[in-house]
Amino acid sequence: MNYLITGGAGFIGSNLVHLLVEQGHNVTVLDFLTYAGNLYSLANLEGKDNYSFIRGDIADGNLVSHILIDRGIHGIFNLAAENHVDRSIG
Ligand SMILES: NC(=O)c1ccc[n+]([C@@H]2O[C@H](COP(=O)([O-])OP(=O)(O)OC[C@H]3O[C@@H](n4cnc5c(N)ncnc54)[C@H](O)[C@@H]3O)[C@@H](O)[C@H]2O)c1
Repeated sequence: MNYLITGGAGFIGSNLVHLLVEQGHNVTVLDFLTYAGNLYSLANLEGKDNYSFIRGDIADGNLVSHILIDRGIHGIFNLAAENHVDRSIG
């Protein structure tokens, strides 16, 4: 399967990315690398054929559309989040 994981550099997302890559799925990560994002958590996946990282905002409709079409995405896990209540309300 071809999966898009948004927020894949976050706590929950990065663990899911590792699981899906290990299972042999094709995984594209879209993450804006806000204060919560940490590329270090994905560093050991760099260079794998079935993993790629794109820095971008899930609110960028054109970018998301291109990813869905170009990569033939079958499923999306949306784990992009603001992890402080005041920020998430905003
Ligand atoms: N951490 C937990 O224990 C836990 C438990 C249950 C549910 N959840 C839910 O899982 C989701 C993820 O939580 P988490 O703890 O992994 O959060 P996190 O803060 O660790 O990760 C969020 C990620 O989203 C990215 N992000 C933020 N805004 C973005 C945007 N506009 N576009 C692209 N990327 C963006 C950040 O850069 C970061 O990498 C949340 O919805 C949270 O409520 C978390």
